[in-house]
Order: sequence, then C-alpha cells, then structure tokens
Amino acid sequence: MRMRATHIKPFMNVLVIGKGGREHALVWKLKQSPRAGRLFCAPGNAGTAADGATNVAIEHTETEKLARFCIKENVGLVVIGPEDPLAAGFADFLRGKGLKVFGPSKEAARIEASKVFSKELMRHADVPTADFQVFDHPEPARTYVMSRDYPVVVKADGLAAGKGVIVCKDNAEARRAVDRIMSQEEFGAKAGRRIVVEKRMEGEELSVLALVSGRTILTFPPCQDHKAVNDGDTGPNTGGMGTYCPAPVGTPKLIAEFEESVFVPLVHAMKRGRYPFQGMLFAGMMLTNQGPRVLEFNARFGDPETQPLMMRLKTDLLDLLEAVADERLHEFEGCVEWDARPAVCVVIASGGYPGKYDTGKVITGIAEADALPDVKVFHAGTKLDELGRVATDGGRVLGVTALGDDLAAAKARAYEAVKLIGFTGMHYRTDIADKALRS
Ligand code: GLY
Repeated sequence: MRMRATHIKPFMNVLVIGKGGREHALVWKLKQSPRAGRLFCAPGNAGTAADGATNVAIEHTETEKLARFCIKENVGLVVIGPEDPLAAGFADFLRGKGLKVFGPSKEAARIEASKVFSKELMRHADVPTADFQVFDHPEPARTYVMSRDYPVVVKADGLAAGKGVIVCKDNAEARRAVDRIMSQEEFGAKAGRRIVVEKRMEGEELSVLALVSGRTILTFPPCQDHKAVNDGDTGPNTGGMGTYCPAPVGTPKLIAEFEESVFVPLVHAMKRGRYPFQGMLFAGMMLTNQGPRVLEFNARFGDPETQPLMMRLKTDLLDLLEAVADERLHEFEGCVEWDARPAVCVVIASGGYPGKYDTGKVITGIAEADALPDVKVFHAGTKLDELGRVATDGGRVLGVTALGDDLAAAKARAYEAVKLIGFTGMHYRTDIADKALRS
C-alpha cells in the first residue's frame, strides 16, 4: 500500500443530490470525514437527516433554486447520486455556475442514458459485449426478431427507471416488446424512439465500479447485486434486493483483466471523443462461458452496491470525491484502503414492490438493529410522519448492512438485524450472498 502525501485541506460543505439508500450511505460516509463541514441532502430521507445532513426540500429539476442554495450555503462540493439529473446535464449546469461537482457531464452520462450510444461506443472501443442491432422503426425490428436465436433482450434506448429492458423467450414476446417500447411508448416517447436488440447472455452477474477522472481509473472491490424480487432469482426484476462485497467470483485476476479490456479502452475512447468521464463508472458485467461481457454501464454509484462499499471503505470519501472533481485522482492510486471484512446488504421492501405499494407504514426496530455491532441500517424510501415516526415512503425502504469476519458471518449479522425491524407488508429476500456461500 502506497502512502499518499497529505496536505492540510479546509473544511468543506457538501450537498448530496438524491433520496435513496445510495445517498444515505454516501452521506453517512462523508460525515466521517474530518474535513466535512455542513452536509446537505436534497431532498434526502429520514436516514440522511438522522445521520447529520440537513435535508433540503428542493428537487433536482429546480436547477436555479439548487444553484442559489449552493452559493448561499457556501457548498464546496455537489455529489450527484441518481442518473436522471446527470442525464439532464445538471453537473454541467452547476459547473457553469462555478461550483465543484462530482458526476459526469450530460454528454458522458449518455453511457447510461442512451443504450444505443453505450453499445455503439463499446463496439467502437472493442469492449466485450453481446452482439446487437439498433432500430429506429418498429417494422424492421419486428422482421429482425423473427430470425433470431432465443432468448433475446429488447432494450429501450433511454432511461426507463430500470424497466426498459425486456427479456424475450420467443419471437412473439420480442414483437410484443418492440410494440410496448416503440408503438405504445410504455417507457415514454423519448426513451422508446430507438431500441437495441441483442442476444441474452447467460452467467453470473457482477457489479464493478470505478472512480474515473482524467486518465485515472480506480476500481473498487466487486459486488454482486440480486435483481429479482424473490429468493432463487425468481419473480420480476427490481432496483436491487441486496448485495454483498467483495464477490469472490470477481477474483483479482479477473478484475485486472476486466480493467484492461473494458475500463481502459472505454475511458480512453470517451476522452478521445471529447466527452471524458468524470465520476463513478459502473459496469454491470456478465461472467459468460466466453469470458466477462458488459451488460450495461451506469454513470453513478450503484444502489444497493454503495451500501456495502461504504461500510468497507476506510479512505476518506470526501477526499476521494473531491480528487475526482479536481482531476487529481492519481494521488490515490494504490492507496485506497478497505476493511478486509466482507459486507452484506439486505434490502427490505414495501408490500407489493416492485408493483404497486402503499406508503406511510410506521417502521419499528431501526434503532435496535442499528445498535448491533457492525450493523448500519441505510434508509431508502423513508420519511418522518406527522408524529415524527419513521415511516415508509418508497418501494425499497431500508438496506440493512453488516460486516462480518467472513461472508457467512456478515450474512448472519445482517439477517439478525433485519429480524428486529417491522412494518406492515414488508418483504425481503432470505438468500443474499448464498451464491458465494454455496460455491
Ligand atoms: N444495483 C443496480 C443499479 O444501481 O443500477
């Protein structure tokens, strides 16, 4: 481990944009920085407020208002959590106001916001991914899917809150997917203007996140998410029902090869294209029989990948994020420190999620769960009700995260904490990390 030269740096006020579990985990970790001044979260949740941030009731779409707030409160760094503001160019807007921002430009955020852009860039940079075709009219797409080997995946080009990716087992399903996206515009007119059709890849999924700034790529330990709502990877897909980190299937050799074959060519291609990436580059990868392949890129921290990552990160997060924004990330090469213990995050969701669900259910047991050693309950969809009680306010409600001496111990501790928590209709998967524990 290299030692980093340290300089005395001033206190800094920080604004985190977002209201999910990812943002609570970022706020919690930023608060631990000896340099953290006042922390703000817009709009935040009950957990960000409980952990020392001032929640600010301004939506990211109220751009002028947020910029004025930053200037008035002397915010030294804005950290943008979710994809929507990045895709809308909020980072560029704030930079234009002279603010320091962690997060990619609108042009670079297309790596997530446009599946067509992302796949074409991967093809151009020789990044391993599934073969694909792009369509901007439904008729040729319907003809094309008649001649495919199945299963295939039909993807809406634009952001669709994680729902615009449809796995099809035969050509009737594929034609229906084309209609839903392009003709019925189920995910919006803009998101469905173009589609990507590709062969479905088989294998184990892995989330590999790297801080990127200039030419520096700093890869974090690999995580594994659990997208399906029910145990055994059954039921509809969600935003993620739990994660663990490190995922042993992402061996150091595999991650080193992945950096060389994926992150390096992609980051260089983006730089050459004059849309350099600055922020967190998140590769969703599939470990196929032919080797690792990229499923998709995200232009932000993952949720719920961030929760176990922040539990394990020992290096000052504020220093790291500021270095990204300042293009000095090279100072941290070889000296980011991690807790050697693995972490497991179990997401507790509202009854009905990922379909329709109610909100406003009072949650009990959070304090008791948080009091267990090496446990942190990260809030996602929570708010304080009119009586000041923590209540549900979203589909994914909490991310109960625990460290353990090994993965089995981390899992046991996380579920011990989960069992202390209650609200009407809550549900969670009971098999987070089992894939690694079985192998
Ligand atoms: N965990 C998947 C995502 O953040 O998109």
